[in-house]
Amino acid sequence: MNTGQFRNLFHIPQVNGEDSIYLCGNSLGLQPKKVKEYVNAELEDWASLGVEGHLHARHPWLPYHEFLTKSMSRLVGGNQSEVVVMNSLTVNLHLLMASFYKPDKKRFKILVESDAFPSDRYAVASQAKWHGYDPNEAIILWKPEPGEYTLRTERLKEILKQEGEQVALILLGGVNYYTGQYFNIPEITALGHEYGITIGWDLAHATGNVDLKLHEWNVDFAAWCSYKYLNSGPGSLGAVFIHDKHGQDLSTPRLSGWWGHNKETRFKMRDDFDPLPGAEGWQLSNPPILPLAAMRASLEIFDEAGIQNLSSVSKTNSQLMYDALASIPHVKLITPADPEQRGCQLSLLVEQNGRAVFDHLSKAGVIADWREPNVIRIAPVPLYNTTEDIECFVSILGKA
Ligand SMILES: Cc1ncc(COP(=O)(O)O)c(C=O)c1O
Repeated sequence: MNTGQFRNLFHIPQVNGEDSIYLCGNSLGLQPKKVKEYVNAELEDWASLGVEGHLHARHPWLPYHEFLTKSMSRLVGGNQSEVVVMNSLTVNLHLLMASFYKPDKKRFKILVESDAFPSDRYAVASQAKWHGYDPNEAIILWKPEPGEYTLRTERLKEILKQEGEQVALILLGGVNYYTGQYFNIPEITALGHEYGITIGWDLAHATGNVDLKLHEWNVDFAAWCSYKYLNSGPGSLGAVFIHDKHGQDLSTPRLSGWWGHNKETRFKMRDDFDPLPGAEGWQLSNPPILPLAAMRASLEIFDEAGIQNLSSVSKTNSQLMYDALASIPHVKLITPADPEQRGCQLSLLVEQNGRAVFDHLSKAGVIADWREPNVIRIAPVPLYNTTEDIECFVSILGKA
């Protein structure tokens, strides 16, 4: 696979009548050209069939989420029974914590990275409170060493040595949203398990960015969104992974709804809840078809490209970008230098006039994103960014 090979399958936003240098796939992925056709097909079927579309649409709506399961499970390295597309990310984190955060007097703490995405911090704090614990006592923050930005596994080991027996849950971002640090998921998962801790991953910045093997790595659960690297549209649906060791156990506690009920008897409407085996048994509601249609168009491109190929192009590109940026004065890369500890996102701390530099980039046709107080995040995405994008960006930044 070559860099930019799939670029013509996407709409590239224009700035001043030209293709922008779009480096913001870590925030909102670009629209695949096929999305319109796929969404329109559902609009047409709805118009012509009404309720009959549940069974007779070209892609029947009743099992529609199943059309995505194979591609999605391939992206995260899960069995098909372990993955389902549903809801949004924070909603899913809460649903998963309802099952997998089971505090008791001895074990009630939740460990998160200190600079976790705000929604994750709010979610874990509210879960602790919901169970009657003071978040100030129940939440443990894994922090960088003084003067550093990224996290060291040695520090995590020390925390667990001291407090591991009190930790009920570890919830971490697979790729941290701010620094772009990609954690060693198998090593950290195994470490958590040594202490008997359940471990879940927020893979918002990892899925479609790095090559994941969640089943093999024995991850308990994970959740992610689809509007970043998965190019499924603003606010589109999320997905979850629940390891078969939990998902096939029908007694695993959960918050339930009719879409998680046995498909054979769902429409009999009278039975008590009879959970579907696997991740599907966590569904609550019948899903919205239009965003699922957009996702189908996008995941077909991943099927064609292959996440291993994408990951290998991504490594070459991010190294190119990393080396070029390292030579620009007043720009400090806070993403790890080790290619195994990052995906395609690089985070630049601009030590002087950061906001003015960012505004200059925007005027010159770069679409990137800004995180307070002084970080610019850029992501050369292997599906649609080219080496020319990288070279242009570096040249514009150098001048800025
Ligand atoms: C790491 C992470 N967690 C949670 C969220 C919140 O996602 P949502 O609004 O889909 O719940 C985001 C959104 O960007 C995110 O990056």
